[in-house]
Amino acid sequence: MPPSWPHLRYSLYAPIYDLFAGRFARQRQRSLRLAGPGAQDRVLLVGAGTGLDLPELRACGEVLATDISPAMLARLSRRAARLGMTVKAQVMDAEALDAPDGHYTLVVLHLILAVVDDPIRTLREVERVLAPGGRVAVFDKFLPDGASPPGWRRALNVPLRWLATDINRRFADIVRYTQLRVAHDEPALWGGTFRVIQLVKPSDSAHHARS
Ligand SMILES: C[S@@+](CC[C@H](N)C(=O)[O-])C[C@H]1O[C@@H](n2cnc3c(N)ncnc32)[C@H](O)[C@@H]1O
Repeated sequence: MPPSWPHLRYSLYAPIYDLFAGRFARQRQRSLRLAGPGAQDRVLLVGAGTGLDLPELRACGEVLATDISPAMLARLSRRAARLGMTVKAQVMDAEALDAPDGHYTLVVLHLILAVVDDPIRTLREVERVLAPGGRVAVFDKFLPDGASPPGWRRALNVPLRWLATDINRRFADIVRYTQLRVAHDEPALWGGTFRVIQLVKPSDSAHHARS
């Protein structure tokens, strides 16, 4: 079956992606430094794109970068080689991670929860593959929790969601379907439209099987 438009579109954008996403360097750095990646970490990048987060992960022992787009991952692999990093790159759907339960100590979700079809399913998958005590680094745009989008934002979302990303998701409506705990949440850009959020999987949380 040929790939659907939501899966194909970022492959078309791959050659020019860094022109747009390169501007978030400071926010990526902030998010990942809060997570404090180290040599002992087993890191999973979900919707990794061209690998703009890799420079902050140089110290990590194990890095698996996943994305639905082979074109994105080809660029990511070249970046990893330039940085002298050993990074495994694998085509994978964020909503059905091909990864064992409880393996990863740090999962990076930068600019992906607003892109996938089903962010709740994605975050539940992340919770499943995360080790107890593991962290999730989120950087993305959200509506303020509890807010309704004004008319202009609903209208703008129609083409934007088709082209690239949804601007009307509320983080609280996603995370409440998991046992992940919000350890930190700060405005990052555009008056808090973009946020840097750190999640932690409680050490005693029950195992969530894939639903
Ligand atoms: C806005 S980009 C973010 C890339 C990277 N995380 C960053 O911060 O620059 C969204 C990425 O998610 C990928 N993507 C979209 N849907 C996906 C899915 N269902 N599973 C995995 N990756 C997906 C796209 O191919 C694209 O590389």
